[in-house]
Amino acid sequence: MNPHIAPVDLAKSYRLINHGPTVLVSARHGGVDNVMSAAWCCALDFAPPKLTVVLDKATATRALVEQSGMFVIQIPTAAQLQLTHQVGTLSLSTNADKLAASGVQLFGMEGFDLPFVDGCAGWLACRLIPEPHNQQAYDLFIGEIVGAWSDTRVFSDGHWHFEDADPALRSLHYVAGGQFYAIGEGLKI
Ligand SMILES: Cc1cc2nc3c(=O)[nH]c(=O)nc-3n(C[C@H](O)[C@H](O)[C@H](O)COP(=O)(O)O)c2cc1C
Repeated sequence: MNPHIAPVDLAKSYRLINHGPTVLVSARHGGVDNVMSAAWCCALDFAPPKLTVVLDKATATRALVEQSGMFVIQIPTAAQLQLTHQVGTLSLSTNADKLAASGVQLFGMEGFDLPFVDGCAGWLACRLIPEPHNQQAYDLFIGEIVGAWSDTRVFSDGHWHFEDADPALRSLHYVAGGQFYAIGEGLKI
């Protein structure tokens, strides 16, 4: 496991996704692990910290989230461009070998029965706040963040510091049609 992982204060955990990165959603149920990409993930509240993510009915990951009531949102890096595109293109429903074929390696965090994707820059363990109407009508899932960690080489003391980190650790931002941007220049008031 990455030796640079450290816990993030839950009060600052929203900052891991405040800049709108494309994320990976992972979940586990009944001995099945899966991971998919999601561009539509957003912070929702500070305390207790919450977020939203859109999980289409066609995704296999959604069923695992609904069944287990838990999921992980993680922030992949520029080095994981191919992986991020692959897990967002292949489905576990039609490709049982999806994770291996996409180069996904999973690891565990003590106290959480969840699959965490190795190599990411940040991880948010979430407990599903069931809202059946929103889930059914809008594919909108709300999670309470119950654990947060970062790779301290790029996020520490509650802040991203992309400008002095390896460019391979930059976050990914999806446009469409296989086009991504890595996060760019920092501007400060
Ligand atoms: C960059 C990217 C972003 C995506 N964003 C979303 C999203 O926000 N919500 C969603 O339901 N699907 C999204 N998708 C599509 C799913 O990741 C895709 O359907 C995936 O194959 C589902 O995998 P699964 O069926 O194994 O869960 C995205 C795909 C890509 C490539």
